Amino acid sequence: MLRDGEVFRDDHLPDPIVGRNRHMNEVTDALAPIEDGFRAENVFLFGPSGVGKTTVAKAAVRELRREVLEVPYAYVNCWQDHTRNRVLDQIARGLVGATLPRSSSTSRLIDLIKSNLHGPGVVILDEADQLRGTEVLYDLHEIRGLSWIGIANREIDLFADLDDRITSRISVAYRVRFDTYGEDTITEILSRRARDGLGPGAVNDDVLARIARLSEGDARQAITALRVAVRMASQEGLAAIPERLVEDAVRNAEQEVRQKTISKLNTHQRALHEVLVEAEGGLIQKELYARYEERHDDPVTLRYLRENHLPKLEHYNLIEVEWDRGTKRYSLVGVDHSESTPEL
Ligand SMILES: Nc1ncnc2c1ncn2[C@@H]1O[C@H](COP(=O)(O)OP(=O)(O)O)[C@@H](O)[C@H]1O
Ligand SMILES: [Mg+2]
Repeated sequence: MLRDGEVFRDDHLPDPIVGRNRHMNEVTDALAPIEDGFRAENVFLFGPSGVGKTTVAKAAVRELRREVLEVPYAYVNCWQDHTRNRVLDQIARGLVGATLPRSSSTSRLIDLIKSNLHGPGVVILDEADQLRGTEVLYDLHEIRGLSWIGIANREIDLFADLDDRITSRISVAYRVRFDTYGEDTITEILSRRARDGLGPGAVNDDVLARIARLSEGDARQAITALRVAVRMASQEGLAAIPERLVEDAVRNAEQEVRQKTISKLNTHQRALHEVLVEAEGGLIQKELYARYEERHDDPVTLRYLRENHLPKLEHYNLIEVEWDRGTKRYSLVGVDHSESTPEL
Protein backbone atom coordinates (compact mmCIF):
# COMPACT_ATOMS: atom_id res chain seq x y z
CA MET A 1 0.00 0.00 0.00
CA LEU A 2 2.87 2.37 0.86
CA ARG A 3 4.80 3.40 -2.26
CA ASP A 4 6.94 6.25 -0.96
CA GLY A 5 7.45 6.72 2.78
CA GLU A 6 9.44 9.91 2.22
CA VAL A 7 6.31 11.97 1.51
CA PHE A 8 5.07 11.23 5.04
CA ARG A 9 8.18 12.53 6.76
CA ASP A 10 7.78 15.72 8.76
CA ASP A 11 10.57 17.45 6.84
CA HIS A 12 9.14 16.61 3.41
CA LEU A 13 8.71 19.88 1.51
CA PRO A 14 5.59 19.52 -0.65
CA ASP A 15 5.14 21.17 -4.03
CA PRO A 16 2.81 22.95 -4.37
CA ILE A 17 1.88 24.24 -0.93
CA VAL A 18 -1.87 23.88 -0.45
CA GLY A 19 -4.10 26.76 0.65
CA ARG A 20 -1.47 29.19 1.87
CA ASN A 21 -1.24 31.60 -1.06
CA ARG A 22 -1.61 34.73 1.01
CA HIS A 23 1.06 33.60 3.48
CA MET A 24 3.38 32.54 0.67
CA ASN A 25 2.93 35.90 -1.04
CA GLU A 26 3.69 37.85 2.10
CA VAL A 27 6.91 35.97 2.66
CA THR A 28 8.02 36.09 -0.97
CA ASP A 29 7.27 39.84 -1.01
CA ALA A 30 9.52 40.31 2.00
CA LEU A 31 12.27 38.38 0.20
CA ALA A 32 11.78 40.13 -3.16
CA PRO A 33 14.51 42.79 -2.72
CA ILE A 34 17.06 39.97 -2.94
CA GLU A 35 16.14 39.54 -6.61
CA ASP A 36 17.62 43.00 -7.19
CA GLY A 37 20.66 42.35 -5.05
CA PHE A 38 19.37 44.06 -1.90
CA ARG A 39 18.83 42.94 1.65
CA ALA A 40 15.35 41.50 2.26
CA GLU A 41 12.89 42.60 4.94
CA ASN A 42 12.93 40.55 8.11
CA VAL A 43 9.72 38.64 8.64
CA PHE A 44 8.11 36.79 11.53
CA LEU A 45 5.72 33.88 11.15
CA PHE A 46 3.48 33.15 14.12
CA GLY A 47 0.96 30.42 14.77
CA PRO A 48 0.24 27.13 16.52
CA SER A 49 1.91 23.83 15.75
CA GLY A 50 1.16 22.01 12.49
CA VAL A 51 -0.19 24.94 10.46
CA GLY A 52 2.56 25.14 7.85
CA LYS A 53 4.92 27.79 9.21
CA THR A 54 8.15 25.87 8.56
CA THR A 55 6.79 24.65 5.25
CA VAL A 56 5.89 28.15 4.02
CA ALA A 57 9.26 29.58 5.11
CA LYS A 58 11.19 26.85 3.30
CA ALA A 59 8.96 26.98 0.23
CA ALA A 60 9.40 30.76 -0.03
CA VAL A 61 13.17 30.33 0.04
CA ARG A 62 12.88 27.53 -2.51
CA GLU A 63 10.96 29.88 -4.78
CA LEU A 64 13.52 32.62 -4.32
CA ARG A 65 16.34 30.26 -5.19
CA ARG A 66 14.52 29.31 -8.38
CA GLU A 67 14.68 33.01 -9.33
CA VAL A 68 18.10 33.87 -8.02
CA LEU A 69 20.37 30.88 -8.15
CA GLU A 70 22.54 30.16 -5.16
CA VAL A 71 21.27 32.81 -2.79
CA PRO A 72 23.17 31.93 0.38
CA TYR A 73 20.72 30.36 2.80
CA ALA A 74 20.81 28.70 6.20
CA TYR A 75 18.16 26.92 8.26
CA VAL A 76 18.54 26.91 12.04
CA ASN A 77 16.22 25.10 14.42
CA CYS A 78 16.63 27.17 17.58
CA TRP A 79 15.06 24.45 19.69
CA GLN A 80 18.18 22.36 19.10
CA ASP A 81 20.63 25.21 18.61
CA HIS A 82 19.49 27.67 21.23
CA THR A 83 22.64 29.57 22.14
CA ARG A 84 24.12 32.52 20.31
CA ASN A 85 27.22 30.55 19.45
CA ARG A 86 25.34 27.51 18.13
CA VAL A 87 23.09 29.66 15.98
CA LEU A 88 26.04 31.52 14.46
CA ASP A 89 27.85 28.25 13.94
CA GLN A 90 24.90 26.83 11.98
CA ILE A 91 24.66 30.01 9.94
CA ALA A 92 28.38 30.04 9.12
CA ARG A 93 28.17 26.44 7.93
CA GLY A 94 24.96 26.84 5.97
CA LEU A 95 25.33 30.31 4.59
CA VAL A 96 28.93 30.50 3.55
CA GLY A 97 29.79 26.81 3.58
CA ALA A 98 32.52 27.43 6.10
CA THR A 99 34.40 24.40 7.29
CA LEU A 100 34.83 25.05 10.96
CA PRO A 101 36.66 23.48 13.83
CA ARG A 102 34.34 21.96 16.43
CA SER A 103 34.11 25.15 18.47
CA SER A 104 34.82 28.64 17.23
CA SER A 105 34.37 31.81 19.22
CA THR A 106 31.33 33.96 18.59
CA SER A 107 33.39 36.85 17.24
CA ARG A 108 35.29 34.51 14.90
CA LEU A 109 32.00 33.16 13.56
CA ILE A 110 30.64 36.64 12.95
CA ASP A 111 33.85 37.64 11.14
CA LEU A 112 33.69 34.52 9.02
CA ILE A 113 30.12 35.21 7.95
CA LYS A 114 30.84 38.88 7.27
CA SER A 115 33.89 38.24 5.16
CA ASN A 116 32.28 35.46 3.12
CA LEU A 117 28.86 36.91 2.44
CA HIS A 118 29.17 39.09 -0.66
CA GLY A 119 25.53 39.92 -1.30
CA PRO A 120 22.14 39.26 0.19
CA GLY A 121 21.53 36.09 2.16
CA VAL A 122 18.67 34.68 4.19
CA VAL A 123 18.39 32.66 7.38
CA ILE A 124 15.37 30.78 8.71
CA LEU A 125 15.30 30.90 12.50
CA ASP A 126 12.75 28.21 13.27
CA GLU A 127 11.31 27.87 16.80
CA ALA A 128 12.88 31.26 17.55
CA ASP A 129 10.99 31.47 20.84
CA GLN A 130 13.42 28.82 22.10
CA LEU A 131 16.48 31.05 21.74
CA ARG A 132 18.24 31.55 25.02
CA GLY A 133 18.89 35.25 24.86
CA THR A 134 18.22 37.15 21.69
CA GLU A 135 21.57 38.92 21.34
CA VAL A 136 22.03 36.89 18.18
CA LEU A 137 19.29 38.88 16.44
CA TYR A 138 21.41 41.93 17.03
CA ASP A 139 24.46 40.11 15.61
CA LEU A 140 22.52 39.23 12.48
CA HIS A 141 21.37 42.80 12.11
CA GLU A 142 25.02 43.88 11.98
CA ILE A 143 25.83 41.55 9.10
CA ARG A 144 25.42 43.41 5.84
CA GLY A 145 23.00 41.82 3.39
CA LEU A 146 21.62 39.31 5.87
CA SER A 147 17.91 39.00 6.63
CA TRP A 148 15.91 36.39 8.48
CA ILE A 149 12.58 34.66 8.66
CA GLY A 150 11.81 34.09 12.35
CA ILE A 151 9.22 31.48 13.34
CA ALA A 152 7.50 31.25 16.73
CA ASN A 153 4.21 30.12 18.22
CA ARG A 154 3.17 33.42 19.75
CA GLU A 155 4.54 36.90 19.53
CA ILE A 156 4.59 37.44 23.30
CA ASP A 157 6.68 34.32 23.91
CA LEU A 158 9.32 35.74 21.68
CA PHE A 159 9.34 39.28 22.92
CA ALA A 160 9.20 38.34 26.59
CA ASP A 161 12.92 37.95 26.63
CA LEU A 162 14.12 40.69 24.31
CA ASP A 163 16.13 43.65 25.42
CA ASP A 164 15.07 47.09 24.19
CA ARG A 165 17.98 47.54 21.83
CA ILE A 166 16.78 44.55 19.86
CA THR A 167 13.06 45.10 20.26
CA SER A 168 13.27 48.46 18.57
CA ARG A 169 15.12 46.98 15.63
CA ILE A 170 13.01 43.94 15.06
CA SER A 171 9.70 45.57 15.80
CA VAL A 172 9.74 46.77 12.22
CA ALA A 173 9.78 43.21 10.86
CA TYR A 174 6.73 42.02 8.86
CA ARG A 175 4.44 39.72 10.74
CA VAL A 176 2.49 36.91 9.15
CA ARG A 177 -0.06 35.08 11.29
CA PHE A 178 -1.12 31.50 10.66
CA ASP A 179 -4.42 30.02 11.81
CA THR A 180 -5.31 26.36 11.99
CA TYR A 181 -6.44 24.83 8.71
CA GLY A 182 -10.03 24.19 7.77
CA GLU A 183 -11.16 20.60 7.19
CA ASP A 184 -11.24 21.02 3.42
CA THR A 185 -7.63 22.18 3.27
CA ILE A 186 -6.48 19.32 5.47
CA THR A 187 -8.39 16.90 3.25
CA GLU A 188 -6.69 18.36 0.18
CA ILE A 189 -3.25 18.11 1.83
CA LEU A 190 -3.95 14.47 2.74
CA SER A 191 -5.26 13.67 -0.69
CA ARG A 192 -2.05 14.91 -2.32
CA ARG A 193 0.10 12.92 0.09
CA ALA A 194 -1.98 9.84 -0.63
CA ARG A 195 -1.56 10.36 -4.36
CA ASP A 196 2.22 10.82 -4.02
CA GLY A 197 2.90 8.19 -1.41
CA LEU A 198 0.28 5.44 -1.60
CA GLY A 199 -0.81 2.93 -4.19
CA PRO A 200 -4.02 3.59 -6.13
CA GLY A 201 -7.21 2.85 -4.19
CA ALA A 202 -5.42 2.72 -0.84
CA VAL A 203 -7.68 5.31 0.68
CA ASN A 204 -11.06 6.81 -0.21
CA ASP A 205 -12.36 10.35 0.21
CA ASP A 206 -14.54 9.50 3.21
CA VAL A 207 -11.55 8.18 5.12
CA LEU A 208 -9.51 11.28 4.29
CA ALA A 209 -12.35 13.59 5.32
CA ARG A 210 -12.76 11.69 8.57
CA ILE A 211 -9.06 11.97 9.42
CA ALA A 212 -9.22 15.68 8.57
CA ARG A 213 -12.21 16.22 10.85
CA LEU A 214 -10.50 14.50 13.78
CA SER A 215 -7.19 16.32 13.32
CA GLU A 216 -8.53 19.73 14.32
CA GLY A 217 -6.74 21.82 11.74
CA ASP A 218 -3.27 20.42 12.46
CA ALA A 219 -1.62 19.13 9.27
CA ARG A 220 1.17 17.33 11.13
CA GLN A 221 -1.38 15.40 13.13
CA ALA A 222 -3.41 14.57 10.03
CA ILE A 223 -0.46 13.35 7.94
CA THR A 224 0.81 11.22 10.82
CA ALA A 225 -2.68 9.76 11.26
CA LEU A 226 -2.80 8.78 7.58
CA ARG A 227 0.61 7.15 7.89
CA VAL A 228 -0.46 5.26 11.03
CA ALA A 229 -3.69 4.15 9.35
CA VAL A 230 -1.64 2.73 6.46
CA ARG A 231 0.50 0.82 8.93
CA MET A 232 -2.50 -0.56 10.81
CA ALA A 233 -4.26 -1.64 7.62
CA SER A 234 -1.09 -3.29 6.29
CA GLN A 235 -0.71 -5.22 9.52
CA GLU A 236 -4.16 -6.67 8.91
CA GLY A 237 -3.08 -7.58 5.39
CA LEU A 238 -5.49 -5.09 3.79
CA ALA A 239 -4.84 -3.16 0.57
CA ALA A 240 -7.00 -0.19 1.58
CA ILE A 241 -7.71 1.68 4.81
CA PRO A 242 -11.14 0.78 6.21
CA GLU A 243 -13.04 3.57 7.94
CA ARG A 244 -13.26 1.64 11.20
CA LEU A 245 -9.49 2.11 11.74
CA VAL A 246 -9.54 5.88 11.52
CA GLU A 247 -10.35 6.75 15.11
CA ASP A 248 -7.61 4.53 16.54
CA ALA A 249 -5.17 5.78 13.93
CA VAL A 250 -5.79 9.37 14.94
CA ARG A 251 -5.37 8.52 18.61
CA ASN A 252 -2.15 6.59 17.97
CA ALA A 253 -0.88 9.41 15.81
CA GLU A 254 -1.40 11.88 18.63
CA GLN A 255 0.69 9.65 20.84
CA GLU A 256 3.37 9.35 18.16
CA VAL A 257 3.57 13.10 17.56
CA ARG A 258 3.74 13.67 21.32
CA GLN A 259 6.54 11.11 21.64
CA LYS A 260 8.53 12.88 18.94
CA THR A 261 8.08 16.21 20.66
CA ILE A 262 9.24 14.77 23.96
CA SER A 263 12.46 13.66 22.30
CA LYS A 264 13.11 17.30 21.31
CA LEU A 265 12.65 18.82 24.76
CA ASN A 266 15.49 20.73 26.36
CA THR A 267 16.60 19.88 29.89
CA HIS A 268 14.21 22.34 31.56
CA GLN A 269 11.22 21.18 29.58
CA ARG A 270 12.20 17.57 30.16
CA ALA A 271 12.43 18.09 33.92
CA LEU A 272 8.96 19.69 33.89
CA HIS A 273 7.59 16.83 31.88
CA GLU A 274 9.09 14.23 34.23
CA VAL A 275 7.69 16.01 37.26
CA LEU A 276 4.24 15.98 35.70
CA VAL A 277 4.52 12.30 34.72
CA GLU A 278 5.02 11.51 38.39
CA ALA A 279 2.32 13.84 39.67
CA GLU A 280 -1.14 12.37 39.43
CA GLY A 281 -3.89 14.88 38.70
CA GLY A 282 -1.53 17.70 37.82
CA LEU A 283 0.16 20.40 39.86
CA ILE A 284 -0.48 24.03 40.60
CA GLN A 285 2.20 26.40 39.39
CA LYS A 286 3.93 26.83 42.75
CA GLU A 287 4.22 23.09 43.39
CA LEU A 288 5.35 22.46 39.84
CA TYR A 289 8.09 25.05 40.12
CA ALA A 290 9.28 23.70 43.48
CA ARG A 291 9.63 20.16 42.10
CA TYR A 292 11.27 21.35 38.90
CA GLU A 293 13.75 23.40 40.90
CA GLU A 294 14.68 20.31 42.92
CA ARG A 295 15.21 18.25 39.82
CA HIS A 296 17.24 20.63 37.65
CA ASP A 297 20.90 21.52 38.35
CA ASP A 298 20.61 24.99 36.91
CA PRO A 299 16.96 26.03 37.17
CA VAL A 300 15.55 29.10 35.43
CA THR A 301 13.35 31.58 37.29
CA LEU A 302 9.65 30.99 37.76
CA ARG A 303 8.96 33.91 35.45
CA TYR A 304 11.10 32.43 32.67
CA LEU A 305 9.48 29.06 33.14
CA ARG A 306 6.05 30.62 32.92
CA GLU A 307 6.82 32.73 29.88
CA ASN A 308 8.96 30.36 27.88
CA HIS A 309 9.02 26.68 28.78
CA LEU A 310 5.47 26.10 29.94
CA PRO A 311 3.86 27.81 26.91
CA LYS A 312 6.06 25.72 24.61
CA LEU A 313 4.84 22.50 26.20
CA GLU A 314 1.31 23.79 25.85
CA HIS A 315 1.68 24.79 22.19
CA TYR A 316 2.95 21.32 21.40
CA ASN A 317 -0.01 19.80 23.17
CA LEU A 318 2.02 18.01 25.84
CA ILE A 319 0.41 19.71 28.80
CA GLU A 320 -2.89 21.39 29.49
CA VAL A 321 -3.66 24.22 31.83
CA GLU A 322 -6.78 24.93 33.79
CA TRP A 323 -7.65 27.49 36.41
CA ASP A 324 -7.92 26.11 39.91
CA ARG A 325 -9.08 28.57 42.57
CA GLY A 326 -7.23 31.52 41.12
CA THR A 327 -4.05 29.67 40.15
CA LYS A 328 -3.03 27.66 37.12
CA ARG A 329 -2.98 23.90 37.34
CA TYR A 330 -0.83 21.99 34.83
CA SER A 331 -1.32 18.39 33.81
CA LEU A 332 -0.19 16.07 31.05
CA VAL A 333 -2.32 15.67 27.95
CA GLY A 334 -3.28 12.17 26.90
CA VAL A 335 -2.95 10.60 30.32
CA ASP A 336 -6.05 8.89 31.56
CA HIS A 337 -6.34 9.52 35.28
CA SER A 338 -9.75 7.91 35.54
CA GLU A 339 -8.24 4.51 36.35
CA SER A 340 -6.81 5.83 39.57
CA THR A 341 -10.20 7.11 40.69
CA PRO A 342 -11.90 4.46 42.82
CA GLU A 343 -15.26 3.35 41.50
CA LEU A 344 -18.25 4.66 43.37
N1 LIG B 1 -0.13 24.07 3.12
C1 LIG B 1 0.43 22.85 3.17
N2 LIG B 1 0.48 22.07 2.08
C2 LIG B 1 1.03 20.85 2.14
N3 LIG B 1 1.55 20.30 3.25
C3 LIG B 1 1.52 21.03 4.39
C4 LIG B 1 0.97 22.33 4.40
N4 LIG B 1 1.08 22.84 5.65
C5 LIG B 1 1.66 21.89 6.40
N5 LIG B 1 1.94 20.80 5.66
C6 LIG B 1 2.58 19.58 6.14
O1 LIG B 1 2.19 19.41 7.51
C7 LIG B 1 3.30 19.10 8.34
C8 LIG B 1 3.50 20.17 9.38
O2 LIG B 1 3.79 21.41 8.75
P1 LIG B 1 4.88 22.42 9.34
O3 LIG B 1 5.17 23.44 8.30
O4 LIG B 1 6.04 21.65 9.87
O5 LIG B 1 4.04 23.07 10.53
P2 LIG B 1 4.53 24.09 11.66
O6 LIG B 1 5.92 24.53 11.32
O7 LIG B 1 3.52 25.20 11.62
O8 LIG B 1 4.45 23.30 12.94
C9 LIG B 1 4.49 18.94 7.40
O9 LIG B 1 4.62 17.58 7.09
C10 LIG B 1 4.08 19.72 6.16
O10 LIG B 1 4.65 19.16 5.01
MG1 LIG C 1 7.67 24.17 12.40
